[in-house]
Amino acid sequence: MNRDDFPMLASDIVYFDNGATTLKPTCVVDAMNRYYLEHTSNIHRGDYDAAIKTNQLYDGVRDIVGKFVHCDPECVVYTSGTTMSINMVVFGYMKKHLKAGDEVLLNKAEHASNVLPWLRLQEEIDIQVKFVPLNSDYELTLDNIKKSVSKKTKVISLAHVSNVLGDVRDIESIGQYCEENHILFHVDGAQSVPHMGVDFQKCKIDFLSFSGHKMCGPTGVGVLIGKKELLEEMDPILYGGGMNSFFEADSSYELKNVPIKFEAGTPPIAEVIGLGEAIQYLMSIGMDKIHNHEIKLKKYLLSKIEKIPNLIVYNRNTNSGIFAFNIDGVFAQDSSIYLNHYHIYVRAGNHCAKMLKDEIQIKNTVRVSMYFYNNYEDIDRLVEALANSEDIFKIVL
Ligand code: ALA
Repeated sequence: MNRDDFPMLASDIVYFDNGATTLKPTCVVDAMNRYYLEHTSNIHRGDYDAAIKTNQLYDGVRDIVGKFVHCDPECVVYTSGTTMSINMVVFGYMKKHLKAGDEVLLNKAEHASNVLPWLRLQEEIDIQVKFVPLNSDYELTLDNIKKSVSKKTKVISLAHVSNVLGDVRDIESIGQYCEENHILFHVDGAQSVPHMGVDFQKCKIDFLSFSGHKMCGPTGVGVLIGKKELLEEMDPILYGGGMNSFFEADSSYELKNVPIKFEAGTPPIAEVIGLGEAIQYLMSIGMDKIHNHEIKLKKYLLSKIEKIPNLIVYNRNTNSGIFAFNIDGVFAQDSSIYLNHYHIYVRAGNHCAKMLKDEIQIKNTVRVSMYFYNNYEDIDRLVEALANSEDIFKIVL
């Protein structure tokens, strides 16, 4: 659906790398161009018309985000992306509030962005990072989480949808469990917020991170949402202009309130405006419609590949538009190069989830990640290429 909104789709490509980044609709690029061509100005600093318009658009995106994921707009912090958001949580909040021996539960399907900051914090203050085992379908369940929790567990941090296998974690039940057990709950929404309705309040999330570029928005902008009282307790990891009320030669200074205290320096203004446009665009389509479309495509794909004998599929049952596979005996990157020959764009490798190999016993996979603008014809082209893959080494070598 909506394919005409995406100029890149006018060429002969099948774009199946939406987990890495999505295509951009014209309306997002136009909104950013309007800022650059008609009212360029900094934010929160100017008293002239263009600056007032820019302020309104920039701060107005907090309301759009608030409606989109059901949170207080004052708790919407603009960041450079999910990675920055998670680093802010870990080094701005957790470093201050956790102590040696406190446990943080992750799992081995997590992306580097939700592992490395915690490992670094473990080095710095001696917290214990533990990994909840996945079940036999490589999924993270509340049961396994409960079995891994101890009296020392202070934080559970997980991707709502994992980026390689696309399993959708039951964040509503996990959030409820965390609240009852006084465990802080961080959700990496990078692969879910673009694809399905996410409700920050209903899921009792403490911190939610996501990126603009995986949801039709520009690169360089993302969001961190936190409960107000947690954000008030959280320190910025960047200090500078825009986020302070005063500073004096006697070393006194005061920071502004949440969320501005986290937005030091000139922020990505055009990108925030583009993100707002992208969210409005997604809402006009409807998140349920987007999710259902992806599920329909995945089911269609699964039904079509039944007859292809040499495919190993790792996530048949997951409820998202991510399909992870290998062609038997073929290195994942070779499969990706082969598919590129047919102008089919996928991602191959470990997908930055470098510990997942301990669970699925293979380091590299090919990932097809779908979005609402993919269609049955895209799937047919993929299936045809895979069905002909006995030719792969004629093409790849
Ligand atoms: N995290 C992105 C992906 O999964 C880059 O491809």
